[in-house]
Amino acid sequence: MPETKNTFDSISTKYDLINNLISLGGHKRWKHEFVNLLEINGRVLDIATGTGDIAILIQKMHPSTSIIGIDPSHEMLEIAKNKSPKKISFVQGFCEDLPFEDGAFNYITISFGIRNVVSIEKSLNEINRTLSEDGHLLIMEFSKNSSLFIKFLYKVYLNFFIPMVGFLFGKYQEYKYLASSIESFFTMDEMNNIISNHGFKITKNLKFNFGLVTVYVAKKTKA
Ligand SMILES: C[S@@+](CC[C@H](N)C(=O)[O-])C[C@H]1O[C@@H](n2cnc3c(N)ncnc32)[C@H](O)[C@@H]1O
Repeated sequence: MPETKNTFDSISTKYDLINNLISLGGHKRWKHEFVNLLEINGRVLDIATGTGDIAILIQKMHPSTSIIGIDPSHEMLEIAKNKSPKKISFVQGFCEDLPFEDGAFNYITISFGIRNVVSIEKSLNEINRTLSEDGHLLIMEFSKNSSLFIKFLYKVYLNFFIPMVGFLFGKYQEYKYLASSIESFFTMDEMNNIISNHGFKITKNLKFNFGLVTVYVAKKTKA
């Protein structure tokens, strides 16, 4: 766990800018669509909140909610705190060991974070534990694609474009690691199975950029 934490501590000040460049601005549109998928209300936890984009958008678009953002990276959280309205609370911690009581949240979101956890099983068990009965989970993540043509385009994008942008900002190793973590992640079908095997029912999938990014909407079915 400390390795990814250090990576994000190290890129924190450039994270938002590089995100804009490597997604060609697309991440803002994906994030808007993501937080608008459901009528989010009640208590919300944004896991792997990073610099707080999702927590801030939820607060703006669903103002009656009460939101906590959690992330292991102190540096990312400092930026989130400076960007956010005071109403959002930020806590340092890992998805695998959430410091909240059972059933504490109505909605849990995790955007571009599930790929970084060390144990996806522990993380989904913790998410399940801290969601209320009938609580909703929304995940947005890069996913592997099975089309040969799209795979080729992604190889160029992940192996050359992303590390090159990282290099221009003096963060080559960090962005090479991020790109390789995208390449080795699951397909949409594999992720649907993993989520379903942890006490959730998938209610919706959404794909952005020909399936480079996939959204998983799931409902807690059992503890
Ligand atoms: C790519 S950033 C995503 C930030 C934000 N959610 C967004 O969409 O822009 C991934 C975040 O995952 C966090 N992270 C890494 N390992 C984690 C873990 N085990 N549990 C929770 N968050 C983790 C990192 O510190 C980092 O801030």
